[in-house]
Amino acid sequence: MENALVIGASGGIGAALADALAATYHVARLSRSHDGLDVADPASVAAHLDPLAGPFARLMIATGILAPDGHTPEKSLDAIDADAMARTFAVNAIGPALALQAVAGKLTDDAKVGVLTARVGSIGDNRMGGWYSYRASKAAANQIVHGAAIEIGRRRKGAVVVALHPGTVETPFTEGYTAKKLAPADSAARLLDVLDGLTPRQSGGFFDYAGEAIEW
Ligand SMILES: NC(=O)c1ccc[n+]([C@@H]2O[C@H](COP(=O)([O-])OP(=O)(O)OC[C@H]3O[C@@H](n4cnc5c(N)ncnc54)[C@H](OP(=O)(O)O)[C@@H]3O)[C@@H](O)[C@H]2O)c1
Repeated sequence: MENALVIGASGGIGAALADALAATYHVARLSRSHDGLDVADPASVAAHLDPLAGPFARLMIATGILAPDGHTPEKSLDAIDADAMARTFAVNAIGPALALQAVAGKLTDDAKVGVLTARVGSIGDNRMGGWYSYRASKAAANQIVHGAAIEIGRRRKGAVVVALHPGTVETPFTEGYTAKKLAPADSAARLLDVLDGLTPRQSGGFFDYAGEAIEW
């Protein structure tokens, strides 16, 4: 059995991804609440990821925050708080960057890597404004994933590294939303199907759970 790694396996979508992958892979699950892995802390990332041998055929990075504890996404420029914005960037953008840095050398040649960002990180799709920190941190994460795809693809010609939008999913993230929500298991199954169907030519892209490309 090949190996898979889920970072953020305690989350609604991360847990569902790990459960779904377990049918095919030997899954390593890592999270902050179960293992103490803080993706925003380089020492913590090194302590948890450096000992892993891999090689991983699947890597899913499913960590993220909508806003730091005690904060909500900003509705206006007036609501921007520098510390909260910095923390959101640390978790949502620097976190995946550190995780990719630590695991890039432990992927199989045809590995598939999905980083959960969000459609609201699309600048082209932003018609409502607001949510400055979350949107910008996810846009930054998209850029990091795109760059990592280019770099990883130089050595691993069969690899696919993409940013993924999971849909609006029933997790603590969407508490209080009235929008129609996907069950985590449904989102996870769709995301893994999308990833399975992508080819190296599509590496570096940004796709939703239905496999549609999202504008940057
Ligand atoms: N749910 C949606 O509708 C939706 C829509 C678009 C995008 N997304 C994205 O999908 C991803 C997963 O979201 P979700 O809905 O599954 O949310 P969730 O249930 O709240 O899970 C969030 C995960 O992130 C982890 N996390 C937060 N800060 C961390 C840190 N500093 N270090 C390590 N882990 C940290 C949490 O770990 P602990 O709980 O162990 O602390 C948890 O595993 C996020 O990136 C989110 O932006 C979700």
